[in-house]
Amino acid sequence: MAVPFLMLNRCFSSSSAMTAAIKNVTIIGGGLMGSGIAQVAAQTGHQVTIVEVNEDALKKAQAGIQTSLQRVAKKLYKDKPADGEKFVKDTLSRLNLSMDLTGSVKNTDIVIEAIVENIDIKHKLFSTIDR
Ligand SMILES: NC(=O)c1ccc[n+]([C@@H]2O[C@H](COP(=O)([O-])OP(=O)(O)OC[C@H]3O[C@@H](n4cnc5c(N)ncnc54)[C@H](O)[C@@H]3O)[C@@H](O)[C@H]2O)c1
Repeated sequence: MAVPFLMLNRCFSSSSAMTAAIKNVTIIGGGLMGSGIAQVAAQTGHQVTIVEVNEDALKKAQAGIQTSLQRVAKKLYKDKPADGEKFVKDTLSRLNLSMDLTGSVKNTDIVIEAIVENIDIKHKLFSTIDR
């Protein structure tokens, strides 16, 4: 089911060989976990697609990530606010939002599931992805 966050942090480490192998990351579910994973992946240079069930959920995920990035930027670029703004803008430019599950998993390097904790819904999702 959901991949442990620490493992993902290692997986998305910007200096690892994984970064070269994994360019496109698709995350199904943009709630608390999915948004956090999406942020880390986009920050480390990956093209990220978040798949959600509706526009509102996508907008909420994007807004949450933007707020969190601004917080990170304040810390990382305390004395260089322009660099901080660029960091936020560049990271957000790698973030794509979609409601098209099938299209989003077709040409991606890794799919990460982060939807609601409901085994039947997860089974249904995985069988759709497999197809
Ligand atoms: N929050 C945590 O601390 C934590 C820790 C470890 C594991 N997990 C697991 O990670 C998963 C996600 O948890 P969360 O806290 O992010 O939940 P959440 O409720 O914040 O987010 C789940 C998101 O999935 C979306 N969603 C539901 N069905 C979907 C579908 N078919 N396709 C696309 N999106 C769909 C919902 O709209 C929602 O935005 C759960 O399985 C949870 O048990 C969570």
